[in-house]
Amino acid sequence: MGSLPLMVAYAALSIPATERRLKVVVKHLELLGETRTSDGTDMKLMRRSNEYIILANGKSLMSSRMHGSEEALATFGCRRARTLDQSCVLVGGLGMGFTLRATLDLLQRTAIVVVAELVPAVVDWNRGPLGPLAGHPMKDKRVRVDISDVSVILHASTDRFDAVLLDVDNGPAGLTTAGNDRLYGDRGLAAGFTALKPGGVLAVWSAREDRRFEQRLRYVGFAVEVERVRGRLKKGGPRHTIFLGYKP
Ligand SMILES: C[S@@+](CC[C@H](N)C(=O)[O-])C[C@H]1O[C@@H](n2cnc3c(N)ncnc32)[C@H](O)[C@@H]1O
Repeated sequence: MGSLPLMVAYAALSIPATERRLKVVVKHLELLGETRTSDGTDMKLMRRSNEYIILANGKSLMSSRMHGSEEALATFGCRRARTLDQSCVLVGGLGMGFTLRATLDLLQRTAIVVVAELVPAVVDWNRGPLGPLAGHPMKDKRVRVDISDVSVILHASTDRFDAVLLDVDNGPAGLTTAGNDRLYGDRGLAAGFTALKPGGVLAVWSAREDRRFEQRLRYVGFAVEVERVRGRLKKGGPRHTIFLGYKP
């Protein structure tokens, strides 16, 4: 997370010592796609060498270099769904498809995975240049793409999902708009609770811990567990949090 410089310069000292000169290798950022979302956010898909970056208003929403905790969201959230014959799992949003890929790898062949993505261009990018990053998850026959706000799907669903995996921003603490409240406020969480089948789980990715969010989950009826994972799992990286709310 955080803003990105437009260029990264790697300096290397070239020989010989008497003629030391600074050799600068510049890795350019290449613009692959751009869109404006319904709330006016400017989103860009960039490539720098073999790294892909999605920028929202110039700030990094995510990079392909680190996706361990996005996969862990699926691992924790699908612990029960993976044992079921006819599971139905909601993934929101799509991003670069890492959570979706991990979900598909866990679930059985008869499963259905609904992907809620707010931004149509993100779906196009996943069908195009981002596809190979996570092994083309959009081509999997179990996937149903719904280009809409995940909160709209939750508010319209009753006893539908075995798991709901949410990664739409930096997590509940970073969210301030009315739209985000619809998802992580009491009413949004109550909708998530209703959308789950008994025994289902709501799994929420977050860049940080949030005790008040845990309390809100309990308030609407979830039994709560909190997992902490590194951005690159065993290889380290920043600490991220995954909230798990179990519907009795
Ligand atoms: C951080 S990325 C998700 C990363 C994803 N977990 C992965 O593994 O690549 C957040 C995504 O959520 C989408 N998004 C944001 N708000 C949303 C909403 N309310 N409903 C559906 N998608 C949303 C964004 O457009 C973006 O594609």
